Amino acid sequence: MCGIVGYLGDQEAYPILIKGLHRLEYRGYDSAGVSMINAKGDLSVYKEKGKVSALEESVKEKDVTGTIGIAHTRWATHGEPNATNAHPHYSQSKNLALVHNGIIENYKVLRTQLEKHGKTFQSETDTEVLVQLIEYMQEKHQTDLYTAVQRALTHVIGAYAIAVLDQRHPDVLIAARKSSPLIIGVGQNNNNAHGHAEFFVGSDATPIIEYTNQVVYLKDEEIAYMDRDGNLRITNLANVEQTPDMQTLQMNLDELEKGGFPHFMLKEIYEQPNALRNCIRGRLSIDTKDVILSGVLDNRRRFIDANRIIICACGTSWHSALIGKYFIEEAAQIPVEVEYASEFRYRNPVITSNDIVVAVSQSGETADTLAAIQLAKSKGAFVYGICNVIGSSIARATDSGTYLHVGPEIGVASTKAFTGQVITLIMLGLTIAKEKKTLSKEMFEMLVDELLQIPDKIQWTLDNNKDIEKFSQIFTYAKNFIYLGRGYNYPVALEGALKLKEISYIHAEGYPAAEMKHGPIALVDEEMPVVVIAPKKGMYEKVVSNIQEIKARKGKIISVVTEGDTTVKGVSDFCFTIPDTRDCYVPLLAVIPLQLMSYYVAIAKGRNVDQPRNLAKSVTVE
Ligand code: M6R
Repeated sequence: MCGIVGYLGDQEAYPILIKGLHRLEYRGYDSAGVSMINAKGDLSVYKEKGKVSALEESVKEKDVTGTIGIAHTRWATHGEPNATNAHPHYSQSKNLALVHNGIIENYKVLRTQLEKHGKTFQSETDTEVLVQLIEYMQEKHQTDLYTAVQRALTHVIGAYAIAVLDQRHPDVLIAARKSSPLIIGVGQNNNNAHGHAEFFVGSDATPIIEYTNQVVYLKDEEIAYMDRDGNLRITNLANVEQTPDMQTLQMNLDELEKGGFPHFMLKEIYEQPNALRNCIRGRLSIDTKDVILSGVLDNRRRFIDANRIIICACGTSWHSALIGKYFIEEAAQIPVEVEYASEFRYRNPVITSNDIVVAVSQSGETADTLAAIQLAKSKGAFVYGICNVIGSSIARATDSGTYLHVGPEIGVASTKAFTGQVITLIMLGLTIAKEKKTLSKEMFEMLVDELLQIPDKIQWTLDNNKDIEKFSQIFTYAKNFIYLGRGYNYPVALEGALKLKEISYIHAEGYPAAEMKHGPIALVDEEMPVVVIAPKKGMYEKVVSNIQEIKARKGKIISVVTEGDTTVKGVSDFCFTIPDTRDCYVPLLAVIPLQLMSYYVAIAKGRNVDQPRNLAKSVTVE
């Protein structure tokens, strides 16, 4: 994630930049920084660990004057959250400053090459490579800043939205993007002979909207040149001139912060295709059909020699852990146990130094999971963390790990972190399987191939289940729900039930479908909605029989089926459709309609979905 702001005009830049950063803090807030060129032509960079307010505090005595500037609020990807790794980054000569949102996948190669050319680096970030590369292009080709940015970006693999300043050109602001969003705001008076040119840059429109509603959404691989004379020039990497597509923003500020969605939860549900693309970026390769999880590869022997894996987690993270167990056991043929961290920490579990404990946590701050890690470490286990929040307590307490990179999750009900955790655990299983040679090359490559399709298939699922909102209203009467699934879909049943409970306050239970007849079926009557995850896979026929048992007792069937299936659809009262995929990946698709249904049922009941009663986003107490 990360948030970018830029300004060029007649006003003092600093207040505009700081206000913009506050609006973008939802995109990350582990450190922040600002850079301006003052009237004397000096380029300053001020950075601080923590939220934007910490940056404001730290610059109180500093010169923050200037009418051109860039700023950044960070969600760390490479390098821990501290002032050195915060943006903006200077080039070696300190003539340039740059802010960046995205991930430069080939930064290591570029850094090594630049070091050979005499560049020295201050930070551990991928971003510093960009600013050094741009300066190198300026020096090597004796070009202007715009051309240097253009040339530099042709060498970059990955995602970027950038804004760049050059203290030798205090009237020029450069911005560019690929796969990360960037918007240019064009001042209201720019075309007026008496007006003063003004440009704004933002990761979204929130830092811009109060100054102008005229915006240009930069497209992939476009570079924008802006100057005080009101010139806006856009080209692509090949230097082909592009016509700026000026649009008029219709939204208000509140709508914009949530990306036009009424709640963060809905925004995060819809963000999943992109969030998961970020999660797999640089880890799954489409060209080599490979998985690269450096946290595992750096500790290869540990994973090859491990007796077993124990996954500790709470809540939604525990559900993703269960899917991880099924996959890792199947693919890597290693025993996996899944523990509630809150139980594990108070038992006296048998753990040896040949065990690997995997801690899964969105926030990285869950007290029980942290305590489980400490217990595991005290018994000599190697501890691997899977967290979303960079630099969180769990990320720091583990021996190695993998970040989800799905961006900040604000809604209390976890959605994109769940799918991010499932994909990360699958990548973990694939990496171990490859090291242990437990999968044939064909099977491995097929699994990688199919995993790469999942973000698109989630998009399909979002696009093709639009009637969930309407039909969810019907179920506001229900006092109870049952969710059923088998195999990989049993944890999805648990997750669907948890989502509904926590935001609508309707009691819901998730069960393995075949367990129904051992008790819960007594609950079924004509009032009871039963959600059945019934893809045309593995135990399909058996799940169809389970559905018949419920139908016979007049239960209301809400099913999740594979596209084209008519059998289950025919016996269902309501039906959600997902595209076909492999058994092990069905949870990533099947959970999407369940997230949407819980959201819409809660809305119909008038609940506060982003902040449900009695809950907190990170549970830092026992
Ligand atoms: O931050 P964590 O993943 O460690 O949090 C664990 C649970 O508290 C969390 O998943 C909780 O169950 C969510 N509210 C579920 O939506």
